[in-house]
Amino acid sequence: MSDHAAAVEITRLVKKFGDFTAVGGINLSIKQGEIFGILGPNGAGKTTTINMILGLLTPTSGTILINGMEMRRHGANVKSLLGLMTQETVVEGDLTARQNLRIFADLYHVPKDEVDSRIELALQEADLVDFADKQAGTFSGGMQRRLELVKSMIQQPKILVLDEPTTGLDVQNRSGMWTRIKELNRNGVTVILTTQYLEEADVLCDRIAIIDHGSIKAIGTPTELKRIVGKGRILELIAEDPAKAPAIAALLKSHFRLAAEVKGDRITTVIEENRIDILTSITGALDRKKLDVASVSLHLPTLDDVFIKLTGAGMRDTASNDAVSARSNIFRGMSGRR
Ligand SMILES: Nc1ncnc2c1ncn2[C@@H]1O[C@H](COP(=O)(O)OP(=O)(O)OP(=O)(O)O)[C@@H](O)[C@H]1O
Ligand SMILES: [Mg+2]
Repeated sequence: MSDHAAAVEITRLVKKFGDFTAVGGINLSIKQGEIFGILGPNGAGKTTTINMILGLLTPTSGTILINGMEMRRHGANVKSLLGLMTQETVVEGDLTARQNLRIFADLYHVPKDEVDSRIELALQEADLVDFADKQAGTFSGGMQRRLELVKSMIQQPKILVLDEPTTGLDVQNRSGMWTRIKELNRNGVTVILTTQYLEEADVLCDRIAIIDHGSIKAIGTPTELKRIVGKGRILELIAEDPAKAPAIAALLKSHFRLAAEVKGDRITTVIEENRIDILTSITGALDRKKLDVASVSLHLPTLDDVFIKLTGAGMRDTASNDAVSARSNIFRGMSGRR
C-alpha cells in the first residue's frame, strides 16, 4: 500500500453479461480525499462499476487498484478499506436501529471494546438516538437511508462507496444527506458516489465522470465540465410554433453567426460573455421576421447543458414525477434499456 497511490485506479475495465456490454472499457483515477461522482442515467453501468470496485462482481477484463492494491491479491486488506451503501435500502425492518448496527459491527469485526461506542456515535450521526430501540421497518425513507449511511461507516472505511444515496428522498432529506457526506469527507474519507441527479453531482462532487451506455463521456470538476459547453452563457429560445424552430436557428446563424441546436420547440446557442448585448438585436430580428418566441432566457452553463452537448439528449424529453426537481433530473428514464 502506498500513500501516494490513487484511492481507486481503474484501467480498461470491461464487464459483459453474455453478449451485452454493461461497462465498455473505462479508465478512472479517483484521488485520495476527494468526493468523486459517477453521473449517469438508468442502466448506464454505475452499479456494475462500483460492484467491481468493491469486489462483488468479477470484471470481464481490466484492472482495479485500491490504494495501489489489487483485490485479487490483497482481498482482506482491500475490503477493510471499503464501505458500501447500496442502492436499495437493506436495513432489517424487524430489528431496531441499534441491532442493525450491531450486526454490521460484528460482520466487519469491529473490536469488541469499541462496538458500543461506535454504535452510539453512529446513532448520533444519523440523528436516530431517540429511535435507537425502535424497529427500523417503522422508519421513514429518510431515516432508513441515514441508518444505511452510518452502517456503511461502522468499520471506519477509508473509502466510502455510495450507490445513489439520495434517489427517492425528498428535498430536505437529500440536502441533509449531502451535509453528512461532506462531513465524512472533511474527516478524511474518500467518497465515491453514483447519482442520476445533476444538481447532486454539481453541489457535492469535487470531480465527476459522466457515464452513459457503459462508457465515460467526460471527466472533470463541475466547472471544467461546464466549459465543454462553451465560455459564455446559454441562450434558450422557445418557439411559439415548434415548426418555426429551425427557421429561428437559421436566423441566428445567418444574422449573428451563432451555431444553434434545435430540439422540438427549443433552440439553444452559446453567446460569448462580451456579446451578451446582441440579445436585443436578436429579439428585434425575430420580431421583424415574425418568428414568435414564447420565452427567451439566458443562463450560465449547467451540467444539464453538458449532458445535452455530450449525448444529444436532455431532460425535457422525459417527464419526471420524482421528488427532486425536474431541472436537476435529466437522466430519469432516458436510457431506456431497463
Ligand atoms: N446481472 C446482470 N445480468 C445481465 N445484465 C445486467 C446485470 N446487471 C446489470 N445488467 C445490465 O447492465 C446495464 C447496467 O446496469 P447497472 O445496474 O450498472 O446500471 P446503473 O447505471 O446502476 O442504473 P440505475 O441508475 O438504474 O441503477 C443495464 O442495462 C442492466 O440491465
Ligand atoms: Mg444502479
